[in-house]
Amino acid sequence: MEGLIKEKLPKHVAIIMDGNGRWAKKHGKPRIEGHLEGVKSVREIVETARELGIKVLTLYAFSYENWQRPKEEISALMELLNKYLNDELENMLKNDIQLMAIGELDLLPTDTYNILKETIKKTKDCKGMILNLALSYGGRQEIIQATKRLVKATLAGRINIGDISPSLFGKYLYTAGLPDPDLLIRTSGEMRISNFLLWQLAYTEIYITPIFWPEFRRAQFIEALKAYQLRNRRFGKIPEQE
Ligand code: IPE
Ligand code: IPE
Ligand code: MG
Repeated sequence: MEGLIKEKLPKHVAIIMDGNGRWAKKHGKPRIEGHLEGVKSVREIVETARELGIKVLTLYAFSYENWQRPKEEISALMELLNKYLNDELENMLKNDIQLMAIGELDLLPTDTYNILKETIKKTKDCKGMILNLALSYGGRQEIIQATKRLVKATLAGRINIGDISPSLFGKYLYTAGLPDPDLLIRTSGEMRISNFLLWQLAYTEIYITPIFWPEFRRAQFIEALKAYQLRNRRFGKIPEQE
């Protein structure tokens, strides 16, 4: 497995796919060309993750804050997403990949929303890997919607205040049922989380590479996984307790 220890692979990898615009600029191309090239990385990383036996792959594809971008860029991104979902359905079914999506999905354009829901439905019985797309996603927005539903359930008497715990709270998040990410990868060097999985990243190992997303391919992914396998995850304990 290319120098990887199978037993020590992360179950859940989350990726902030950043740097498409900078990649395009470097090559003297318009930003959208960077997004187009970035889709190739998405394909390669999904394929590699599935092949290695990673159980959940969460990709930050469009943030809640990304709605503030120029509307031409937003519609180009939505078109790319539509095309990706249409093109990949067959592959997902063949490779037993279940599609999931987290975020404020009702803000998506109707056609994108429909293709997304349709693909989720068609792949719902796939068991090999979960490909989880964060779309129109913001960590704070996710926590607020969870809180609202939790308060509602409490006021209705379905939950006792004393029973509210991290694990109960987790059930109200979009990621309910998924393990927390073991590894977070961010491409193109920015040292920030950009409102991604704020709750779920509590004990995640962070790997930041200067490589732009369109250049992040199989070899770079394996490199990140190798780095992860060298980490000591202590979860607050001392080394002797591991
Ligand atoms: C990531 O690349 C893709 C999305 C956020 C949709 P960017 O578009 O953020 O690229 P940079 O950061 O401007 O290089
Ligand atoms: C984070 O990238 C969002 C995605 C990768 C989808 P951004 O490019 O939007 O993040 P900032 O604005 O640099 O923090
Ligand atoms: Mg960016």
